[in-house]
Amino acid sequence: MTEVKIHDKEFVDYISSENIQKRIAELGKEIESDLTGKNPIFLGILNGCFRFSSDLLSNIDTPCEINFLKVSSYAGTETTGKVSELIGLNINIKDRYIVILEDIVDTGHTIDFLLERLQKEEPASIKIATLLYKPTAYHGKHKLDYIGFEIPNLFVVGYGLDYDGYGRNLNDIYQIKS
Ligand code: IMP
Repeated sequence: MTEVKIHDKEFVDYISSENIQKRIAELGKEIESDLTGKNPIFLGILNGCFRFSSDLLSNIDTPCEINFLKVSSYAGTETTGKVSELIGLNINIKDRYIVILEDIVDTGHTIDFLLERLQKEEPASIKIATLLYKPTAYHGKHKLDYIGFEIPNLFVVGYGLDYDGYGRNLNDIYQIKS
């Protein structure tokens, strides 16, 4: 068991880097086979998705574009439930095949906001890929198309995910110690 301390909280190892990479390779192949020939645009949601996006795209071998967007919705370990603004949509996505890349889907507020906002741009389709998904916390309206791991309603850090800004650099995913 490996433990890490971030600020006032302790975390224990949960999903190894090896298992993360194995699952991402499977997701990449699934996405690739669904979207080959469609010149998809991947929209990574910063900051948490930076590692997932990079590793996923290295498993996708069809011509595609990648862009990054920012949405502010979260502080500390509790969701504020308030999704305010979409920053960085500076490309035309009309009639394009979009794949949103999220590190984690928790309540689903972020995804609901993004879908509503991006649909206005009239893309051909929008699919959602998330590395982690908390089904018991989720009350969003949309179905998730590609899920890396379903996890219980526990706070996790590592592999892009943070606790108050720290922990994103960890290669494994850690869960909060109860
Ligand atoms: P949602 O809008 O409640 O689905 O939350 C989505 C965002 O909340 C994610 O993109 C993360 O930034 C953050 N988040 C939710 N759960 C966790 C967690 O367990 N650890 C770190 N960040 C989280």
